[in-house]
Amino acid sequence: MATQPTTQAQSFEEYCRATFDPKKEFGKPEVLKGYRVLSCTQYILGPSCASYLAELGAEVIKIEAPRRGEAMRHTTPFNEPFLYPLSKWVPERGTGLGFLGANPNEHFVSIDFHRPEGQALVKKLAAKSDVFVENYRPGTFDRWGIGYRQLKEINPRLVYCWLGGFGGWGPGRVRASYDILGQSQGGNFGMTGKQEFLGGSPSKHTIWLADYWGGMMGATQVLAALYWRDHVSGEGTFTEYSQVHGVTRQLEYALPLYGRHGITRERWGNWDTQLCVHGIIKCGKSSYPNSENPQEMEEGYILISAYEDKDFARLCKAIGDSTLASKYAKADIRVKAESQMETYPALEKWAADKTKEQVAAIMDANNIINQPVWNAKEVANHPHWNERGAVRWLDDPTYGELLHQAPAFKMSATPPRLKWALKPVGADNEYIFGKLAGLTPEDIKRLEDQECI
Ligand SMILES: CC(C)(COP(=O)(O)OP(=O)(O)OC[C@H]1O[C@@H](n2cnc3c(N)ncnc32)[C@H](O)[C@@H]1OP(=O)(O)O)[C@@H](O)C(=O)NCCC(=O)NCCS
Repeated sequence: MATQPTTQAQSFEEYCRATFDPKKEFGKPEVLKGYRVLSCTQYILGPSCASYLAELGAEVIKIEAPRRGEAMRHTTPFNEPFLYPLSKWVPERGTGLGFLGANPNEHFVSIDFHRPEGQALVKKLAAKSDVFVENYRPGTFDRWGIGYRQLKEINPRLVYCWLGGFGGWGPGRVRASYDILGQSQGGNFGMTGKQEFLGGSPSKHTIWLADYWGGMMGATQVLAALYWRDHVSGEGTFTEYSQVHGVTRQLEYALPLYGRHGITRERWGNWDTQLCVHGIIKCGKSSYPNSENPQEMEEGYILISAYEDKDFARLCKAIGDSTLASKYAKADIRVKAESQMETYPALEKWAADKTKEQVAAIMDANNIINQPVWNAKEVANHPHWNERGAVRWLDDPTYGELLHQAPAFKMSATPPRLKWALKPVGADNEYIFGKLAGLTPEDIKRLEDQECI
């Protein structure tokens, strides 16, 4: 039978706009509704894993240390109490801004994992959960009697996702790990940063790339394990994710290159070892010369991508440089280090009296791929991302108006969504412990007074 076109008159853009309309998100079902996740997580790696599942509709219960919560609430600055109060027990402290973005849509309870009563409570919750996520040192939960080996006896269908630094076995396993260590040992920093002759050195990323990527890998593992449980075996799974290995997994061709030729991929800053032009150049004029913010008064930057011969020819025409055009007309000559050392400075010389927007306009007019380098303010105010709901003002039930990023992907029938950004430590003790562990308000008060929860 011939396939019928859905609606003749509707353009693809109109179809996508109607299908993914952010205003309709809450009227549609959630794909992971009915799945319960316990998130015994800290910092970013484990929390982001659980939060991706929460964005998809799973009921995620974050368990933190009583009163002061997990370390991330204190690791970053701006934890003044008036911003995002920490908990009713610690009114003089707030939650540090680094906590935002890694824990949306979750329920927040507190349990002391050291105490037998706390451990019993974890077991009660685990008996009624589908997934358990944690990112403590290897074996910490096992030592506390609430690791996979113990919990699977209570709930053989449990998917246990452990995320850590180096894996649960091997001589280097017990060291502490953070994003920065993962990126360093995994090989990323060795090839990130400006060239030595430009005064550069290995460079760290400002954002916690290994953590957020690792969280996504963890969530992928969880979904695969749930598929295995629900459609194949009926059994739970123990999964392990090493943050360092995850970084090595991103090294593209660096390892095959080394293996075949013994060549160590080096850092090449804002340029590219394989493609030219394909990099970031400085534009000499600030876009906001009258700003009171010194950072905005800096020169702008723009990326330009014109590495195919025909694109490079158009670029040279646009900047009026016929010498570059003939000298480096061919990609294999253009990509050499010496060629790049002449090409990029020539581009920057041309852009020295322009803002990044002026350069962008000239590139657009000549059909050359470009993008000014934007800061958070420019991202937040861009109509495209506002219209699509990628960045939005959230009416957070606890904290009120809050500018926040939304889930990065869309699903037509079961869209992920942002419900709330965060809550204080232990905010859902009554609701969750009452519902899942049968605790009365009196039990909860006693346990809270004893700092067990
Ligand atoms: C982040 C990291 C370095 C912290 O190390 P650490 O605090 O020395 O060790 P653990 O993670 O095993 O945490 C154990 C401690 O957590 C504390 N703790 C945190 N929450 C607790 C709770 N709810 N109840 C009781 N104790 C708690 C205790 O002090 C406990 O120590 P103890 O049992 O020896 O008394 C380590 O967990 C790690 O390397 N994790 C894997 C990589 C990772 O996720 N890094 C963070 C992301 S960048």
